[in-house]
Amino acid sequence: MTKPLESAFLPPRQDFLTPIFRELRPSEHELLQGHLLRLSSDSRAKRFCSPFSVQLIEKYCRNEGQPMPIIVGAFIGDTLRGVVELRFDRSRPRNTAELAISVEDDWQDIGVGTRLMEMALHCARDNGIARLEVNFLPLNTAMRRLAWKFGANFSHQTGLTKGLFSLSDIDYAVDAGSKRPQ
Ligand SMILES: CC(C)(COP(=O)(O)OP(=O)(O)OC[C@H]1O[C@@H](n2cnc3c(N)ncnc32)[C@H](O)[C@@H]1OP(=O)(O)O)[C@@H](O)C(=O)NCCC(=O)NCCS
Repeated sequence: MTKPLESAFLPPRQDFLTPIFRELRPSEHELLQGHLLRLSSDSRAKRFCSPFSVQLIEKYCRNEGQPMPIIVGAFIGDTLRGVVELRFDRSRPRNTAELAISVEDDWQDIGVGTRLMEMALHCARDNGIARLEVNFLPLNTAMRRLAWKFGANFSHQTGLTKGLFSLSDIDYAVDAGSKRPQ
């Protein structure tokens, strides 16, 4: 047994904060709402490309009348701290999806978004998605950088930047010269 005096000098447990990345089961989709509500108002506005109230988030998470999304999550401890969503629209072909990504503020800029994107693109391919796009505010430099690392082609319309991913490209992040381990 560790004596109290010894334990005071033990190094912090690094593995405690290691994120676990995995696809959410449908029964876990309800965790999305808590995650989105924990984003700061700035991150929330970037995520939805405009200020978004609690009521709008609740409505969004009910996903009424729309096909079930694919959600990949980053769990830190037991809490869902980051997600990438692949959303389908009933009025568009099933092989077309929109990607949306968010990482809670205290866990941004440490590589969680990159890992989520990697998994999302694999998931998209595995699910036969041929056209995958992400829409974001033009001044969202983190999202622009992230999409660029994964080979997106950009266009601009109605005040938003659209990134379109080519799902046949591999090694995108390595080619982009990212300083993060791939
Ligand atoms: C966009 C977002 C998901 C990125 O997640 P993240 O976990 O911070 O991403 P990473 O740590 O993997 O960093 C990805 C790249 O962006 C860069 N980056 C991260 N934060 C940045 C910032 N605030 N400003 C500029 N670049 C930034 C990183 O340097 C990294 O590039 P590199 O690999 O060349 O170093 C996160 O910032 C976020 O949740 N923002 C709010 C929601 C949002 O904007 N969603 C997009 C619209 S759907």
